Amino acid sequence: MAAPIRLAGEPGPEALGRRVAARLLGALRDRARGLSQRPLGLATGRTMEPVYAALRDDLAALPGAERRELLAHWHSFNLDEYVGLGPADPRSFAATMAAAVGEPLGLAPAQLCLPDGLAADPEVEAQRYAAAIAAAGGLGLQLLGLGSNGHVGFNEPPCGPDSRCRCVPLCASTRQANAGAFGGDPSRVPNQAITLGMAEILQAERILLVVTGAAKAPVLRRLLQSPPSADLPASWLHNHPCVSLLADADALAS
Ligand code: GLP
Repeated sequence: MAAPIRLAGEPGPEALGRRVAARLLGALRDRARGLSQRPLGLATGRTMEPVYAALRDDLAALPGAERRELLAHWHSFNLDEYVGLGPADPRSFAATMAAAVGEPLGLAPAQLCLPDGLAADPEVEAQRYAAAIAAAGGLGLQLLGLGSNGHVGFNEPPCGPDSRCRCVPLCASTRQANAGAFGGDPSRVPNQAITLGMAEILQAERILLVVTGAAKAPVLRRLLQSPPSADLPASWLHNHPCVSLLADADALAS
């Protein structure tokens, strides 16, 4: 029997971002002290913007030696990347992560890993990426956002718990939701992505699911009420022993 998802609320996205950042900082400290060898699993999306802003602030407030020590132990793998976009394209997740943490924190490229959206064969790249995570020992703390259709990463419904890292087509609703970075035009959003599967996500030691805003209230309600099912990929998280849901008041409103 899986442990229930633990819930923590905060009034708004900024307060919630500070809370999530504190957990990431804790995971970095664990790595620096040798308590955990596993890399972080990171996510992009609007939900994560206040998280990375708070993490930058927290790190800036530390004494220099401590900050350098923690950053020397940074090693992360992101969930997903658009097929066809590389780090030089500001709409890629690689560019988003470089702007949010890589450049401001002075991380080396090898510390901040994402699937290569420009790989000649995305399926081969997905297998390479999964093998790199396995070689690093699997993921430690996995940060997740929640798509309005219940996806995590780009595991669009229907999606089973054994899905592996792979190249997937993106749903029309996901391309619409992510059109903001593409001039508001969903037809310009890539129609494929490389994503970790539910299997790699569920193998993480701990999972932090972060949900903010009134637009996510319906899917969050479904998630909290649904038994695990392929129609709502995030619902497989009910089968994980250590999931924390961090949500703001708007997302929790019914
Ligand atoms: C995106 C990403 C997810 C993200 C989710 C929510 O499409 N693939 O990793 O967590 O959907 O995004 P947002 O935080 O912008 O609502």
